[in-house]
Amino acid sequence: MVTPGGDYRIDIGAGLLSQAHAWQGLPPARDGVIVSNPTVFALHGAALVQALSSLHSRVSHVLLPDGEAHKTWQTLNQVFDHLLGLGCDRKTVLYALGGGVVGDIAGFAAASYMRGVPFVQVPTTLLAQVDSSVGGKTAINHPLGKNMIGAFYQPERVLCDLATLDTLPDRELRAGLAEVIKYGPIADDDFLVWLENNLDALLRRDRTALAHAVKRSCEIKALVVGQDERESGLRAVLNFGHTFGHAIETGLGYGEWLHGEGVACGMVLAADLSASLGLVTPAYVQRLSRLLTRAGLPVEAPRMPLERWFELMRVDKKSEAGSIRYVVLEAPGKAGVRGVEDTLVRQVIARHTAAA
Ligand code: NAD
Ligand code: GLY
Repeated sequence: MVTPGGDYRIDIGAGLLSQAHAWQGLPPARDGVIVSNPTVFALHGAALVQALSSLHSRVSHVLLPDGEAHKTWQTLNQVFDHLLGLGCDRKTVLYALGGGVVGDIAGFAAASYMRGVPFVQVPTTLLAQVDSSVGGKTAINHPLGKNMIGAFYQPERVLCDLATLDTLPDRELRAGLAEVIKYGPIADDDFLVWLENNLDALLRRDRTALAHAVKRSCEIKALVVGQDERESGLRAVLNFGHTFGHAIETGLGYGEWLHGEGVACGMVLAADLSASLGLVTPAYVQRLSRLLTRAGLPVEAPRMPLERWFELMRVDKKSEAGSIRYVVLEAPGKAGVRGVEDTLVRQVIARHTAAA
């Protein structure tokens, strides 16, 4: 992938963690530090330690508490404590082994430790392989808003080992599918058709289907990020469904709904908002909602007072001078960003809120 921030490889394949070629060409350093959590490290840590032992004379790891609720300053500081405690220098390479939470924290740690050290993404959730490990967004949450503190910082390499997905719980696989499905409405209607035809294979974790889904998702993401690394415009389309989704995640408390679940429901609301503006048909909204439902994802929003929705949605990086801006579908396979009348948004939220 080529961005103004750098040019790096995204490798996709089963068993890559233990294949020597996957690790060739990374920057040399005494220290390789794996950032992970106890769940993932217990499953896949040994394979990574083994691979890194031929690259670094000292391989160590720091395990962060698992879960979105821990994407905080305190957890980030654990990484700095580890690096400084070991006397790691500015050539140290960080390896993020885990899902989007580990990747976002490790990336931010790499961006800021000694003003920047190299890092490698080794994503182990579907969501991280198709989205968060690619494109260089790193962040932690603030109690008032999700991903509010962070940096753009590109990895040296992204290594998507499809075999790591074998151990992923079903609910997490489904949450990852939300971000895969997202690429259809925003960029590629043919991919949406492919997903409709191959969803069952993806749910069965068919390796060929997964490989295509990860590859196509990374291609689309790379295309967008390559044109607008720092989100001065186009990149915001990758946030389709996220304005509503982040409000759900923050409003219910981090970790209550998974990120992908918030995004799934948020996409239905954002698609319906687009239909209310006459940009897509109600039938298209139903089509998207049907696919998400088949993937086992929520399409009904949780009950929250309307004022709370708006309060939460205003704390969004797309907001300008306090005005909320929404990613809408301009047509099937094409997205854009615009302000929308509150009245329309209220109607959409009300239409999709679960009955008491
Ligand atoms: P996550 O990192 O919390 O991982 C989900 C769960 O799966 C965790 O409990 C984890 O321990 C476990 N897990 C991970 N890999 C496993 C494996 N192979 N086997 C068994 N268990 C495994 O969640 P996520 O869905 O990967 O990521 C969500 C996060 O990503 C959110 O914080 C979101 O904001 C962020 N995100 C960032 C970007 C970006 O561009 N930086 C894009 C999308 C999402
Ligand atoms: N997931 C949104 C982005 O990377 O821009």
